[in-house]
Amino acid sequence: MYPQRQVYNDPQVQSQLPQRGFGYPSNVVNSGLTSDTAPIQTTMAASLSAGPPGGIATNIPGGVPAGTSSGPPPGASVSSGGAPNTNKALNDEKVYAWILELAYGPNKEQALLELGKKRELYDDLALVLWHSFGVMTSLLEEIVAVYPLLSPPQLTTPISNRVCNALALLQCVASHPDTRNAFLNAHIPLFLYPFLNTSSKQRPFEYLKLTSLGVIGALVKNDSPEVVSFLLTTEIIPLCLKIMESSSELSKTVAIFIVQKILFDDSGLAYVCQTFERFSAVSNVLKSMVEQLVLQPAPRLLKHVVRCYLRLSDNVDAKKALKECLPEPLKDGTFSSVLVNDAATKRCLSQLLVNVSQE
Ligand code: TRP
Repeated sequence: MYPQRQVYNDPQVQSQLPQRGFGYPSNVVNSGLTSDTAPIQTTMAASLSAGPPGGIATNIPGGVPAGTSSGPPPGASVSSGGAPNTNKALNDEKVYAWILELAYGPNKEQALLELGKKRELYDDLALVLWHSFGVMTSLLEEIVAVYPLLSPPQLTTPISNRVCNALALLQCVASHPDTRNAFLNAHIPLFLYPFLNTSSKQRPFEYLKLTSLGVIGALVKNDSPEVVSFLLTTEIIPLCLKIMESSSELSKTVAIFIVQKILFDDSGLAYVCQTFERFSAVSNVLKSMVEQLVLQPAPRLLKHVVRCYLRLSDNVDAKKALKECLPEPLKDGTFSSVLVNDAATKRCLSQLLVNVSQE
């Protein structure tokens, strides 16, 4: 039991969450990116490659996790061993030309774009990026150059596009099994946190946030315990919680996906449930999301919310706390019409209710 459990019903604690409005950008809501059935990987891909009309759309090559894009050209191998040499970035002279351009200029912006396009062609681009002298430094320079524009908000669409292209290349490095650990050991995700922490609702900021979430999402996608234990040493959970409360629906979806992945890791669940403060920070945000979902249904978000609650109920202390704080709409059938075509989530919800009613 949590030592401060009596605080649980304290209205002051309950009301700590700001009750903000959820202004969904119309380009996100109307773009079909939030279809209920596609898996989260597709959401992230769609969110990162679709972008605003006439804006980032064509400029973000990134965000498409390996295997969900249009796929390699005929004859390309998607396995890292034994691929025909012709489909290796290592053998593409143009890749080297753009790498040089990225490291030394003067055409860095185009290099970001061109290399981004190549990431869907070659499965070894991450290795070439990581091991080429000056490339990672150049990418980090692109990122820190934008920091002064975050506050007061001065980010323009072209600048946001440019840094999103750099982030797409970082995502490529974050996704590759042979570069992921080096990427973590260099603590590169920390460079994205200022982007995740912005609260401007302007489109260039929202897309920068979404693209940054995509990099973290790519890291957690493969259920690697190293990734989770790295993220637990950082402030990613509070950052995601903040986004889950107040950003666009797409950003919320990727943020809750990251939190869900952390919770599904045993050490992640133990970490979040270790103190009442952590548990209640998570459960308060989930509760606020449920309240919003009652007013504005979003089946995909609901699905993640239910899974997060269900996973929390695997922890003994959290289960006890949930007996008292599980939001009413999850218990009284409010969402049965939303879940009518989602048997898996319905099952998760019933299981959750069984878990919290057990002694
Ligand atoms: N450093 C904070 C902690 O360890 C991180 C944190 C803040 C956090 N809010 C959280 C972690 C909510 C998990 C859940 O508590």
